Amino acid sequence: KKVVLAYSGGLDTSAIIPWLKENYDCEVVAFAADVGQGDEELEGLHEKALRSGASECHIVDLKEAFIADYVFPTITTGAVYEGEYLLGTSMARPIIAKAQVELARKVGADALCHGCTGKGNDQVRFEGTFAALAPDLTVIAPWREWDMVSREDLLAYLAERDIPTTASATKIYSRDANAWHISHEGGELEDPWCEPSKQVWTMTVDPEDAPNEAERVMLSFHKGRLTAVNGETLSPYQSLVRLNALAAAHGVGRIDIVENRLVGMKSRGCYETPGGTVLMAAYKALETLVLDKAALKHRESLGLEFSHVMYDGRWFTPLCQSLLAGAAVFAELVTGDIVVKLYKGQATVVQRRSENSLYSEDFATFGADDVYDQKHAEGFIRLYSLSSRIAALHKGKTS
Ligand code: ARG
Ligand code: SIN
Repeated sequence: KKVVLAYSGGLDTSAIIPWLKENYDCEVVAFAADVGQGDEELEGLHEKALRSGASECHIVDLKEAFIADYVFPTITTGAVYEGEYLLGTSMARPIIAKAQVELARKVGADALCHGCTGKGNDQVRFEGTFAALAPDLTVIAPWREWDMVSREDLLAYLAERDIPTTASATKIYSRDANAWHISHEGGELEDPWCEPSKQVWTMTVDPEDAPNEAERVMLSFHKGRLTAVNGETLSPYQSLVRLNALAAAHGVGRIDIVENRLVGMKSRGCYETPGGTVLMAAYKALETLVLDKAALKHRESLGLEFSHVMYDGRWFTPLCQSLLAGAAVFAELVTGDIVVKLYKGQATVVQRRSENSLYSEDFATFGADDVYDQKHAEGFIRLYSLSSRIAALHKGKTS
């Protein structure tokens, strides 16, 4: 038997390799996705997996596909979970799980395994993808099976088997990083009354230590896709890397929230999404130029719906496809440039222009104009409020 394990090189998935071999009498193929989490996590991963007992280790580069095919489409929906979370972990899960299934097919595996706990969202996202793409494969979730509960347990498990590890007993936070964001949970953050200490944050400069000079960055969009930063044409992933560097230096993109997990409990998390915060602000600003009132209202409800689809691991569903198709119609119009000012943790849109702009200075001006006849407003308001007038007249007659 053969199992493909979503492997990160961390303590949990390192212990899972021998555990699978002992409990399922199988060969373990380690699989890691490069979604832009950074070189530290990926360095030496291959050797590490083999040392832990994997028969093979495959690292698949998904950086461009992650941004182009998952992040950019999600941006067109305007999705923000519970008003704040930019869905960094949620968006990465379906592409990782899909690539894992593809590897399983290639190596002829019978089962898929992940290191998510039984208390979180990620298990649902992985297994939701497995269900949609590989209903025939067995799913193994060790955290729901074994009785190890702490890092000490996992370290002892590896030590008993003489498997070397550089993991320490004290790792304070559970983190998940990719090109879009990093999440931090656990440690002192489990107490929502406890302010995050400085050591929580890893991607951005503390806004209090950010430069006293503001910096401006121009984002150019073509049909809903970011195509250039400060006039330089960049690939989706490269543009994110660029925006991250600019925004992180100004402390942009930190949030500290309590969120509702799909499995029912609340959890407290800190997130850093520097480039993404700038990108979302710019995208939404451009939409305000090109979408009329009714379209923008619909896009807003679409974003709310999509935030739950994405968070809840429902990427590979008809509902998701339908919402993306709807958002794509609006995205066609999103072409133009936005300038965002970065300053001490804030990303503020200060300039906008679009060839599709519906904004007209001729109409909007408070000065004299000859395109809008103010007298026309009188008839509009009379008809627009006609039902109120009728109701009030009726009430006057009956009371
Ligand atoms: N709470 C966030 C979410 O559900 C982040 C989860 C982080 N996952 C992790 N394995 N550390 O999307
Ligand atoms: C986990 O429980 O594995 C991480 C947190 C989450 O999935 O929500």
